[in-house]
Amino acid sequence: MTEQYTLGYSDAAMRFLVRRKLDTHGAFFIPHLSPGLRVLDCGCGPGSITFGIAARIGNGSVEGIDMDGPQIALAQQRAKESGVGNATFRQASVYELPYPDNSFDAIFSHALFEHLKDTVGAAKECLRVLKPGGVIGVATPDWEAFIVAPATPARRAAVQAYVDKQTANGGDPGTGRKLATILAQGGFASPRLHARFEVYDPITAITEVMAVQYDRDGMPQHAQTMRDLEQDPMGMWAQAWVSCIARKPG
Ligand SMILES: C[S@@+](CC[C@H](N)C(=O)[O-])C[C@H]1O[C@@H](n2cnc3c(N)ncnc32)[C@H](O)[C@@H]1O
Repeated sequence: MTEQYTLGYSDAAMRFLVRRKLDTHGAFFIPHLSPGLRVLDCGCGPGSITFGIAARIGNGSVEGIDMDGPQIALAQQRAKESGVGNATFRQASVYELPYPDNSFDAIFSHALFEHLKDTVGAAKECLRVLKPGGVIGVATPDWEAFIVAPATPARRAAVQAYVDKQTANGGDPGTGRKLATILAQGGFASPRLHARFEVYDPITAITEVMAVQYDRDGMPQHAQTMRDLEQDPMGMWAQAWVSCIARKPG
């Protein structure tokens, strides 16, 4: 089975990702950021969280890597337009990071590991480029804990269809609760888990991107379920995010 990135790169997917900021989605990592650090952001996408890291590290620098060239180009363009001088972006795979051993003080990764077939392999590669004693912070959803309300058979079926699709693509929608184990198996010490819910408001922030994926993947009935959910005044989509902080043994 080859690995395939389930979300894809539609306009809806880009709108979905650029809403994310360090303060909203990477807050768990803020205590580990300080001026002067060299930071790597793995699977940075359009870079909206990376820019928040850049703002926190003063004269330090952050490098964002992503396997998708157009997203890297978009991140570079956004950095230029907003005058962010200490963030650079590079097309690369997390399995083969283009850096020597012990290059970074800190590594961050948001919403990447659930898409990976070899999460431990990715963790080992992060360990290689992190300095001894350096910190890693990884966050990823856990679809087993999502709350889509009011629950109906159609909504449950739509969520399950996404879970099945991501699994068929080589990912693991249940990665969240496994993060500590994955990082420990990758060689990291003292992994500590934390979790939170993101409640989408407006709910269209998630239903739109889900509907686009269902249409793309030939599941129009689930796309319609998403559009019906948008119209439900009692509707809620709460996404469970799990984060894990660990250190490279020093
Ligand atoms: C859901 S997006 C997350 C983007 C950003 N971190 C955020 O949370 O907004 C996942 C990103 O991981 C990238 N990706 C998937 N597999 C990858 C791999 N093996 N190496 C590097 N990037 C990868 C995708 O291209 C995509 O941009």
